[in-house]
Amino acid sequence: MAAGFKSGWYTVKLFSGFVLRGHFAMENVSVIKQLHLERTGTAPEMFLAPGRVNLIGEHTDYADGFVMPAAIDFATIAAISPRADKQAVVYSKNFSEEVERPLDGIGTRGSHHWSDYPLGVLAILQQEGMAVPGFDLTLYGDVPLGAGLSSSASIEVAAMLAMLHVAGVSLPPEKVAQLCQRAENQYVGAPCGIMDQFVSCCGAADHALLLDCRSLQYRLAPIPKHLSIVICNTMVKHSHAGGEYVTRRVEVEEGTAVLRGHRPEIRLLRDATVEDLEKWGHEMRPDVLKRCRHIITENIRTVAAADALEANDLALLGRLMAEAHISYRDDFEASCKEADVMVELAWKQPGCVGARLTGGGFGGCTVNLVESAKAEKFAAVIAMEYENATGIHPEIYLSYASAGAHAIEEAANTGAER
Ligand code: GLA
Repeated sequence: MAAGFKSGWYTVKLFSGFVLRGHFAMENVSVIKQLHLERTGTAPEMFLAPGRVNLIGEHTDYADGFVMPAAIDFATIAAISPRADKQAVVYSKNFSEEVERPLDGIGTRGSHHWSDYPLGVLAILQQEGMAVPGFDLTLYGDVPLGAGLSSSASIEVAAMLAMLHVAGVSLPPEKVAQLCQRAENQYVGAPCGIMDQFVSCCGAADHALLLDCRSLQYRLAPIPKHLSIVICNTMVKHSHAGGEYVTRRVEVEEGTAVLRGHRPEIRLLRDATVEDLEKWGHEMRPDVLKRCRHIITENIRTVAAADALEANDLALLGRLMAEAHISYRDDFEASCKEADVMVELAWKQPGCVGARLTGGGFGGCTVNLVESAKAEKFAAVIAMEYENATGIHPEIYLSYASAGAHAIEEAANTGAER
């Protein structure tokens, strides 16, 4: 193991400036299995759900538009076993804390605590009429929290697969994603769209996923083998439960209502065109016009980016990612100065195909498609120059597009799976 091996992760520390890491360590699976056994005296069934990075298509999901994320090899593991009583007992290894609730005392709203995610999932399954029995659940994840890599979705999806298992219910992954989104919207109180939960459920190894957030139809586009996904964490934290994400949604709804006043068939911005904005945008507040312009043009860019990826036109893909960042920065005003620094540094590096701020915005991570042969150099230079420019020590992760959520089979528990 490399010198930089850190808290159970496969990490390679090239020098003190940054960390590159590879696949989610299957050692974690044995550790969580053992922990669950010690806590409960019962051998668990194990499930894994990944976080995600979004290549392009930001704030388009709740406008019924298009997104193109990939699942990453940062994930949450859930270990579960049924209990004889009617208690839900959840332990988080990340928080070293246990929460116990009677099954009939889950309620409909969370309490701004990490347990809102698993309990929210339980609440939604109960609302759906599913008889989830009492259970012990052990959770552990390595998706950085509040970094725009969908740690929340990965907890929800892993917990839901686990609870469905003890309830003896099998659901299609698309349905699991929708129910997890409901848990986050209603119980946690974060008004997110469907992207994160969907790609956590339906992602595929080595592929990006182009999702039509209205029909929930999707296509998988292979990421060329010579490219790596380098994720650069600005270390600027964001939060979705309140704040700017919510403000943006309200502004978008305000603009949509203006356009709908002229063309009633515009349900959401997915239905609107650049021409609509040219005709009626002047009736909107200037900020609202900019928000709408971002979403309408981002939908066009996202579909074009999927076509470019499929056609192996990497120059076009990179251009679209750059335009997406500029639109996110100037029209949606969801970037921050640190993310702009990180992205502009990336654009100058040899081997960088495309770079932009990823996720809900206002901090978090940038996504960079980089020629694998140059990825380590890329990471080293970005880490050093970012720290010089901002005084912030970044984390940099090397990821692959990973498979969506799944049960961890016995063979994998021994480390056979990547
Ligand atoms: C967050 C939300 C998603 C999506 C993105 C922005 O990740 O959870 O639903 O809206 O922000 O693209």
